[in-house]
Amino acid sequence: MTVLRLRDFEIHQRYFAPEAQARLVDTLRDVLSKAPLVQPVTPRGTPMSVRMSAAGMYGWVSDRKGYRYELVHPSGVPWPPIPDSLIEMWRDVVPDARAPECCLINWYDETAKMGMHQDRDEADLTQPVVSVSLGDEGLFRMGNLTRGGKTESIWLRSGDVVVMAGDARRAFHGIDHIRPNSSTLLPKGGRINLTLRVVT
Ligand code: SIN
Ligand code: FE2
Repeated sequence: MTVLRLRDFEIHQRYFAPEAQARLVDTLRDVLSKAPLVQPVTPRGTPMSVRMSAAGMYGWVSDRKGYRYELVHPSGVPWPPIPDSLIEMWRDVVPDARAPECCLINWYDETAKMGMHQDRDEADLTQPVVSVSLGDEGLFRMGNLTRGGKTESIWLRSGDVVVMAGDARRAFHGIDHIRPNSSTLLPKGGRINLTLRVVT
């Protein structure tokens, strides 16, 4: 495992070994059977290209009513608990942080992307955001505290963990596109990104 630092983003390459990734995917299958992926729309009604679900006390949702955290899946069921291996990883990489209250699950098919944005729907922006990549590689773009300006990109690979703390916590970031068939972890291909956050 190598830890890289790019503009305050801390990238733990291959934090999860292949066997740990496979176990995590099995656990996520169970989570998604209880809280299925949905295709969200933006507040203006445009469908997002990723499909989403969540685990933890809160899930982040987007629909015509806006972006927000909810205590239940759109079907009305509570979000399943955050898998233990993710809680352990959080304690390891951000030992001083409060416990995570949301694990957002984003699923990218071969055409999905995520536009440049800031994560700012949480009440305490001093708490870090930690992301995990699984499956196909995704081109992660890191920007600035305001929209625009120079950016830097890195391919996130399966098992990589990104810590967004300090200035990176409020920096713009996004996924330009994924690299189809770059991993054999997910039988049908695609990319899963998990983002752990403290919400309250
Ligand atoms: C996000 O910023 O919400 C997702 C980032 C990623 O997919 O790696
Ligand atoms: Fe984000």
